[in-house]
Amino acid sequence: MPAPKSKPNTAAAPERGGDVLILTGPNLNMLGVREPKIYGKTTLADIELDCLAVAKELKLVIDFRQSNHEGELIDWVQQARGAFRAIIINGGAYTHTSIALMDALLLTDLPVYEVHISNVFRRESFRHNSYISLAATGVICGLGAASYTLALRAAAQALQTKA
Ligand code: DQA
Repeated sequence: MPAPKSKPNTAAAPERGGDVLILTGPNLNMLGVREPKIYGKTTLADIELDCLAVAKELKLVIDFRQSNHEGELIDWVQQARGAFRAIIINGGAYTHTSIALMDALLLTDLPVYEVHISNVFRRESFRHNSYISLAATGVICGLGAASYTLALRAAAQALQTKA
């Protein structure tokens, strides 16, 4: 049989899979020093540790990743298809700008939980629109660093009901 001329329409195989992929977007690697009056003093490393502790309690395997690059976030979302059971995402500013990230989330066919540390609705009007919300099952915003673990608990409950 002749070799196919084009590559199949699938994203590169994921490096690893699990239950919940937790993605964090641009500038959130600077939590702790970034505008602490808005985002608090908790670092992203602290949030990851909190998520790992809650995941252990809930018997879930999570993968926690951060990127400042839209394309990298999109690659990770595409690769989550078939490799994870849910996605939690804080898209940072891409939340308000990225149709491409929304499209990637939609194609995964996975439940998506959108999180924001700050209450975006009390802030500038350009933060009131979220493309990610158009792909999200639910949104948790304004509850600080705890937004991530609350989303993890919500995802766990939904996955349990589904199983
Ligand atoms: C954020 C809110 C966004 O508007 C902002 O661009 C961020 C962080 C939050 O977690 O509150 O980078 O997603």
